Amino acid sequence: MSAAPALLEARGVTRDFRVGGGLLGRSATLRAVDDVDLDVRAGEVLTVVGESGSGKTTLGRCLLGLMRPTAGTVRFDGDEVGTAGRARTTFRRRVQPIFQNPYSSLDPRWPVARTVREPLDAFGIGTRPERDRRVGELLESVGLSQRHAEARPHELSGGQRQRVAIAAALALGPDLIVADEPVSALDVLVQAQILNLICDLQRELGVALVFITHDLAVVEHIADRVAVMYLGRIVESGPAAEVLTRPRHPYTRTLIDAIPQPDPRRRLEAGAVRGEIPSPLEPPTGCHFHPRCPLAIDVCRKDAPAMTEFGPGHVASCHVTAAELRTRGA
Ligand SMILES: Nc1ncnc2c1ncn2[C@@H]1O[C@H](COP(=O)(O)OP(=O)(O)O)[C@@H](O)[C@H]1O
Ligand code: SF4
Ligand SMILES: [Mg+2]
Repeated sequence: MSAAPALLEARGVTRDFRVGGGLLGRSATLRAVDDVDLDVRAGEVLTVVGESGSGKTTLGRCLLGLMRPTAGTVRFDGDEVGTAGRARTTFRRRVQPIFQNPYSSLDPRWPVARTVREPLDAFGIGTRPERDRRVGELLESVGLSQRHAEARPHELSGGQRQRVAIAAALALGPDLIVADEPVSALDVLVQAQILNLICDLQRELGVALVFITHDLAVVEHIADRVAVMYLGRIVESGPAAEVLTRPRHPYTRTLIDAIPQPDPRRRLEAGAVRGEIPSPLEPPTGCHFHPRCPLAIDVCRKDAPAMTEFGPGHVASCHVTAAELRTRGA
C-alpha cells in the first residue's frame, strides 16, 4: 500500500448520545459510533456503507468537525479537527460537506449565485468581478447555466438544488469532500445523474471524497476503498474491488447478495439480510451481527471479534472467517 500519510485520519472515534430521561423513561447511553479507525489519502474515494442507523451520519459529522467525538481523534493533514485557531480556518477552507437534503443546506432566501459565491466572499478570495466569473465557471461545471444564477432554491428541482450545493462545496477548491447520502433524497433517475456528476468532478479535480451511502451498489461505480459499518462499528474495509469480489465479513456478503440483480433468476436466490437491525441501545453481545449471522458459532455471542488482515489493506472482524484464514495459512 501507499506509504503516503493520510490526509484524514480517524483513530478510535467513538460517539455516545444520552437518550431518554423524559417523565418516566430512564436515560441511557446510545453508542452511535464505536471505536472507528479510518484513513483517507489525498485524491482517493472512500465509501462508507451501512444500513440506516449504523452511525454513518454521526461518523460523517465527527469527520467534518461538526460534532465532537466522545473518545478518539480526527486529524486532517496532521492537525486535530475541531480545535480553534489557524488549523480550524484551514480546515473550513479545505474540507467541504455535501448533505443528503440540499433544500435544508441552502439558504431559501439566497439566489443561487450568492450561495455559490458565499465561500469566496467569506474567505475574501479574488476581486468581486473575479468571484462572479468563478461563480459562472462553477455553475457550468455542475451543469447549470447563467439562467439559474438568480433563481432561489424553491424554484429549482431537487437535482438542481444538489448541483448548487456541489458548486458551493467546490468553490474553494477543497482537498476533501464528505458527502452524506448526497443522492438518497432524489428521484431514481436524477440519482444516477448526480452520482455521475460527483464521480466526474472527483476524477477531474482529484479531490478526496468520503461518500456515505446505505447502497452498496454505488460502490463499484465510485469507490477506491470501502468501509462497511454495522451498529457503529466498521466490520470490514479494504480496496473496493477486493471487498466486493472477496468479502470476508458475513454482513458484507449479505449486503452484496441484496444488491438488486438484473437477472430475475439471480434475484430470487439473493436474500435480503435476515431480520431487523437491532437497537443500538441494546446491541447484541460479542459480535453485534450474531443474531442475524448465518455462520454464527458460540464464541460469537461472547467475544467481539478482532480485526484480521486478509490481504493488503483488507481487514474484517469475524471469528469464523479469521479461523478459516488461519487454517488455510497453516
Ligand atoms: N442527536 C442524537 N441523539 C440521540 N441519538 C442519536 C442522535 N443522532 C443519531 N442518533 C442515533 O445514533 C444512531 C446512528 O444514527 P446515524 O448516525 O444517523 O446513522 P445512519 O446515518 O447510519 O442512519 C441511531 O440509532 C440514531 O437514532
Ligand atoms: S463473528 Fe460470528 S456472528 Fe460475527 S460475523 Fe463472524 S461468524 Fe457471524
Ligand atoms: Mg444518515
